[in-house]
Amino acid sequence: MNAPTTPQTGIVNPPAAFASQAAIGSMDAYRALCERAESDYAGFWGDLAREHLVWKQPFTKTFDDSNKPFFKWFEDGLINVSHNCLDVQIERGLGNKAALIFEADDGAVTEVTYSQLLDKVARLANVLKAKGVQKGDRVIIYMPMSVEGVVAMQACARIGATHSVVFGGFSAQSLRERIQDTGAVMVITADEQRRGGKSLPLKAIADEALAKDCPSVRTMLVYKRTASDQVAYQAGRDLDMLAEMAQQSAVCEPEWVSAEHPLFLLYTSGSTGKPKGVQHSTGGYLLQAKLSMLWTFDLKPSDVFWCTADIGWVTGHSYITYGPLACGATEIVFEGIPTYPNAGRFWDMIQRHKATIFYTAPTAIRSLIKAAEADEKIHPRSFDLSSLRLLGSVGEPINPAAWTWYHENVGGGRCPIVDTFWQTESGAHLITPLPGATPLVPGSCTLPFPGIMAAVVDETGKDVPWGQGGILVVKKPWPSLMRTVWGDPERFKKSYFPEDFKGEFYLAGDGAVRDPDTGYFTITGRMDDVLNVSGHRMGTMEIESALVSCTELVAEAAVVGRPDDTTGEAICAFVVLKRPRPTGDEARQIANELRNWVAKEIGPIAKPKDIRFGDNLPKTRSGKIMRRLLRSIARGEAVTQDTSTLENPAILDQLTERV
Ligand code: PRX
Repeated sequence: MNAPTTPQTGIVNPPAAFASQAAIGSMDAYRALCERAESDYAGFWGDLAREHLVWKQPFTKTFDDSNKPFFKWFEDGLINVSHNCLDVQIERGLGNKAALIFEADDGAVTEVTYSQLLDKVARLANVLKAKGVQKGDRVIIYMPMSVEGVVAMQACARIGATHSVVFGGFSAQSLRERIQDTGAVMVITADEQRRGGKSLPLKAIADEALAKDCPSVRTMLVYKRTASDQVAYQAGRDLDMLAEMAQQSAVCEPEWVSAEHPLFLLYTSGSTGKPKGVQHSTGGYLLQAKLSMLWTFDLKPSDVFWCTADIGWVTGHSYITYGPLACGATEIVFEGIPTYPNAGRFWDMIQRHKATIFYTAPTAIRSLIKAAEADEKIHPRSFDLSSLRLLGSVGEPINPAAWTWYHENVGGGRCPIVDTFWQTESGAHLITPLPGATPLVPGSCTLPFPGIMAAVVDETGKDVPWGQGGILVVKKPWPSLMRTVWGDPERFKKSYFPEDFKGEFYLAGDGAVRDPDTGYFTITGRMDDVLNVSGHRMGTMEIESALVSCTELVAEAAVVGRPDDTTGEAICAFVVLKRPRPTGDEARQIANELRNWVAKEIGPIAKPKDIRFGDNLPKTRSGKIMRRLLRSIARGEAVTQDTSTLENPAILDQLTERV
């Protein structure tokens, strides 16, 4: 691959001071890594796995592609993730170093050292074992952002149980589906979560989920976050997590597992059907979670790292629970929301904790820009952010205006920004700048992480010329690539290694274009029916099924996305009711009912922003919904598609009308 040589407008070079101390401090160093990976792919990853992970038993074979696309890495190596994240750090002399700086919603701060964290993890691991959880069993974690959430994940890893974290904003129905699909034996939850000054029930939602058809769950551990007396315990099933931990030993020998052992399942949306359980490995996953901390975030022992994601998403897995701890880092874990008690919270926290690396989502930045520009007191320039040395962005494209604001106002013009493109499926960064090497261009995630063979191809799998848009693929599997879709290997094959590319290339699902001069990648958005709302990934079909499951009201529904200044994309639903098309107040009232219905079915994040009613939906002669047409309507664009096949063209006017 050619490195950038041509000057590009708006280019921001790595500051010399940053480059001189960086792990990868020049494009030559970056290119050398890429060339090593090209010439000896298995050797490249094998050496890194030996250098960066501590193995109980070394692996003898790096890579096995004998059963494509079910690739295996380091399979006969024995390892334990929690051992690498905790015991190894303590052996390195970091026992008294702060692992987590936890800041609660109300501002209370708790520091947990590596030794204290191991104590908690071992105790909880022993609770799990005492309750009969065995290696390979699945455990659902439905927790707020908390020390205990991280402890729960690490405790599962310690005994070889496979966790599946369900974001605390998901409904009882979504939680139940995940419990059923995983066949979990245990649920770990909290009485309530605290966000933005409010208490939200978690245990009550978990109770509701478990009330129907979840026979596999034997135990529910409840972390008392608010010690709410509203919470009822079911005898024989529910236990007070902290009380149980207090009774257990603080010593727990790690369970040594194959590098291929499933560390976790994480459900994510695809274009069809229900969310799929993305299954990740142990060794390959941990290697890249750690390596990206060292290369993308240039992590140093003195850093205070802050990733604002929730542990319910993959970013919280790789860049809160696993990557930073595998490096012996000090990191901030935040319970609350960026706008409470005011929209200066992030900047205030960076100032107080002297954060050096800050990693957040474009949605958060965009909403904080608006607030900051309206109120000087909460503007980043009203805070001392001089501790920062690096910024990151993840989850959706960052528009150049937001990038520039972030760079100037939060990073003081001196901090590089790593715009990291990756996915639940990829486990770690796929395309990202390396901050000491890569000249930055706002709006571009720049170049592949060393060893990631990303390319832009046409439908036949042929590379398209730079400057031409196409399909983003990765031509070789990498260690932290998902292993399969839990319980549905065929779906894994079809969705990610389709026959169109002879089963050889990983299909990311996004479109991309490479800069004609530099080859830099810009992600042009999903090519399937997946929406990205505030960095949350959702399938249009899921929301449609939720709407039509309101059988009393809804006859038919179609969901599309439209661009939104703050949330990136917004959900727009076109609905045909089983009663005459409502207008005015009645329409508003039904739209609200439907929004609440979707919140109950999936979770508040899936609520459509815009609901419109029609007597019918626009369909082709063969009865297919004309989604492109609906997308144009949702965007408020003039309809240019051929509408001659529409049975009733008047519905276009109806669907254009906002409720
Ligand atoms: O469309 C891409 C977008 O988010 C999708 C992956 O979503 P998820 O699995 O929820 O993981 C999000 C956190 C890694 C991708 O297919 N996406 C993620 N990061 C970026 C991005 N789009 C553009 N630029 C990014 N940096």
